Amino acid sequence: MPATIIVGAQWGDEGKGKATDLLADTTDLVVRYQGGNNAGHTVIVGDQVFKLHLIPSGILYPHVTPVIADGVVVDPSVLLEEFDGLAERGLDPFERVKISGNAHLIMPYHRELDLLIERRLGKANLGTTKRGIGPAYADKASRVGLRFQDLFDEKIFRQKLEAVLVHKNEQLAKIYNRLPMQADEIAEEYLGYAERLRPCLVDTTELIHTSLEAGKHIILEGAQGTLLDLDHGTYPFVTSSNPVAGGALTGAGLGPRHVDRVIGITKAYVTRVGTGPFPTELFDEVGEIMTDRGGEYGTTTGRRRRVGWFDAVLARYAERVNGFTDIFLTKLDVLSGFETLKVATAYRYDGQEYTNFPPHQSIFHHAEPVYTEVPGWDEDLTEVSRYEDLPRAARDYVDMLEEESKSRITWVSVGPKRSQTLVRHDVPLVPPVAT
Ligand code: GDP
Ligand code: IMO
Ligand code: MG
Repeated sequence: MPATIIVGAQWGDEGKGKATDLLADTTDLVVRYQGGNNAGHTVIVGDQVFKLHLIPSGILYPHVTPVIADGVVVDPSVLLEEFDGLAERGLDPFERVKISGNAHLIMPYHRELDLLIERRLGKANLGTTKRGIGPAYADKASRVGLRFQDLFDEKIFRQKLEAVLVHKNEQLAKIYNRLPMQADEIAEEYLGYAERLRPCLVDTTELIHTSLEAGKHIILEGAQGTLLDLDHGTYPFVTSSNPVAGGALTGAGLGPRHVDRVIGITKAYVTRVGTGPFPTELFDEVGEIMTDRGGEYGTTTGRRRRVGWFDAVLARYAERVNGFTDIFLTKLDVLSGFETLKVATAYRYDGQEYTNFPPHQSIFHHAEPVYTEVPGWDEDLTEVSRYEDLPRAARDYVDMLEEESKSRITWVSVGPKRSQTLVRHDVPLVPPVAT
């Protein structure tokens, strides 16, 4: 059975955790394909809240095998913390989570360098999560990264670590005036992690492909979002991996023919954490209300998220670079109570109007949104259980987003819980079995 990709359509935190968890009901494998513990995916089941950083959101269903594939960067200390936390809550991650030997490791010097580089950038900093993501992917591209599989050959691991530390220590001492790191100490720490994680190491490419061949269904769960993509995002204010649908293929070891659904997750407005341009950003009371109502504080770093009106220029761009088959629209409930709502349908810059994402970053940085204003609604949406029961103005708003985004909106979310999801088009990921 073909696989499904779940991608953030904006700047992250769109509700990928909620959507993945909900849709994993009929799935066999949930695969994380990129990013690391910069991600924070919230899943709410009953009265329990789970904040997942590395473990795929399918973990909450006993029938799902969660997989961390080749394209992810893994900080084993964080992963073990997450495993232990879930084990305390009655789950069994040590038996169930599978990790690719090709996944790269986040090392202590990556975390340290992430911090130091950001500090050195001063005002021009990117506002990274300081989890070592950028430095780890940089080492991967420079071919000096250490991989999860290296942990299981002590001699090789120590050799590679010593070699790379020579360069890292030079950097730490000469550029940043820091003390050198000790290879032995790091090796002891990481080999300790390996002992505990040994059962999780599998050939994930083999697992993914034999599962597909056996007719099983797979969800590929993206982290971050399209506009944080290293190639297609708002560079340099991006992350260091490829969250877009193409990244799911390289990150998990699949080809385009293995996939038939690409679901973009998008908020009914826009948020962003960290620095970088944001044309529809709100600095007024409306923004304050949106932040508070939406609980817009980062799942990983606790930072206040910047908020703004829905941006259809960016939504159309996300549709193009991902080829969405569906949109899962989240947080519509947060927009209750505004007299009117605005949607940016184009940008204006230097006397010219842009209906598509501008090709030059300087235009985007100075783009003035061209808004269409539509009526809002007062009703609380969080108790609505059928799409048809939404107020007329809310349905009109969704119709407008669909039209402007050029993508079918299949699900509409009106709260963080599984049950607070309205099906707008009944097109299940896995066709029901005929009885
Ligand atoms: P992710 O990184 O894309 O998985 O998103 P996060 O979990 O970081 O942030 C999304 C937040 O919105 C979480 O706190 C979710 O519980 C919450 N959430 C998701 N969908 C909805 C929704 O439809 N309405 C409301 N009010 N909250 C939602
Ligand atoms: P999820 O998966 C929102 C942002 C950071 C920063 C930029 C680079 O929960 O949607 P990095 O640490 O990756 O080098 O930081 O990317 N960022 C996210 N923003 N959600 C995320 O993940 C993010 N992961 C990274 O704030 O602007
Ligand atoms: Mg998040």
